Order: sequence, then structure tokens, then C-alpha cells
Amino acid sequence: MPHPNALGEGATSSAGRGAVRVDRCICRDRLFADLLPQARHHGWDLAALMGATGCGAQCGLCRPYLRRMLETGETLFHELLPAEPA
Ligand code: FES
Repeated sequence: MPHPNALGEGATSSAGRGAVRVDRCICRDRLFADLLPQARHHGWDLAALMGATGCGAQCGLCRPYLRRMLETGETLFHELLPAEPA
């Protein structure tokens, strides 16, 4: 049975028809759209964001998305990014 927090399956089912849609840290149930303004306000880098919110610090599957969010300001992703080493 797949891990219930796996981004792949859970992330695609809400959009239906198999479209990739990743918009949150599943483990902490936090939307990237909510995390980004917080990160900008506090000047967080990825490590600081992880430390303050716990996002990216559990299963870690959202970590590449958080990294890209901080770099580009994107909060909705339609592609699966490769997992980062723990
Ligand atoms: S989805 Fe597991 S730590 Fe974010």
C-alpha cells in the first residue's frame, strides 16, 4: 500500500483526470500559497522555513517544491520534481 502522504497519488487525485497538481505540504497540510508570503515576510530560506513550519522536515517530498517556490515564487506545480536526498 502506498504511503498515504506520497505527493504523487494524493497530489493528482484532487485535480482529477491524472493532471499533476502539487500545491501544499501534505504532512503539515500547509498550502504553498500561504507559506510563500510568510517566508517572504520573514526572509526565510529553505532551512528557516522548515524549522519554523515543519514543512519539508517530515517525509521531505515537498522539499524540492518549497525550494523552487522560494526561488521563483511559484505556488502551484504541474510537474513532479525529483525527491531530494534526506
Ligand atoms: S509533504 Fe511531507 S514534509 Fe511536506
